[in-house]
Amino acid sequence: MSDTVASPAQVTAGLPASSPALLEVSGLCKSLPIADGTMLEVNRDITFALRAGEFMSIVGPSGAGKTTLLRIVSGLVQPDRGSVTHRGQAVRQVPSWLSVVFQEYNKSFFPGLTVRKNVMLAVHSQPRTEAQQRIAA
Ligand SMILES: Nc1ncnc2c1ncn2[C@@H]1O[C@H](COP(=O)(O)OP(=O)(O)O)[C@@H](O)[C@H]1O
Ligand SMILES: [Mg+2]
Repeated sequence: MSDTVASPAQVTAGLPASSPALLEVSGLCKSLPIADGTMLEVNRDITFALRAGEFMSIVGPSGAGKTTLLRIVSGLVQPDRGSVTHRGQAVRQVPSWLSVVFQEYNKSFFPGLTVRKNVMLAVHSQPRTEAQQRIAA
């Protein structure tokens, strides 16, 4: 690994025109301010689509922009350009059905609580019956 700044993440993947996409990310761009007062281009023109049941891994060196991309896709961070849609609806804030587990596991759960209580926190905004089913699962 060199000590140069990683290139901005660029992902381009697609579906045949006939396949309905569950998640569509189109032309996503994001720059973030860094300590010297300049902007660091973290994500450049990211476009991909996923169908229900598909699984995708985003692989790249540390600092390439993977976490920033996931934050944008999950509605935690707004992109500078581009769009994220789920079942055709724009994702502009964190959807209630979404669960995100961040890399820093110790910041993603409460070690003092049981597994059940940790899961309960993640699904608390969902209807009671659905929440109970997800906790049980
Ligand atoms: N909130 C932020 N403000 C400024 N720079 C950031 C911020 N978050 C991440 N960065 C910088 O953006 C680059 C990409 O970070 P990140 O998306 O966490 O990469 P990865 O997950 O691929 O390691 C890194 O250089 C990181 O230091
Ligand atoms: Mg990361």
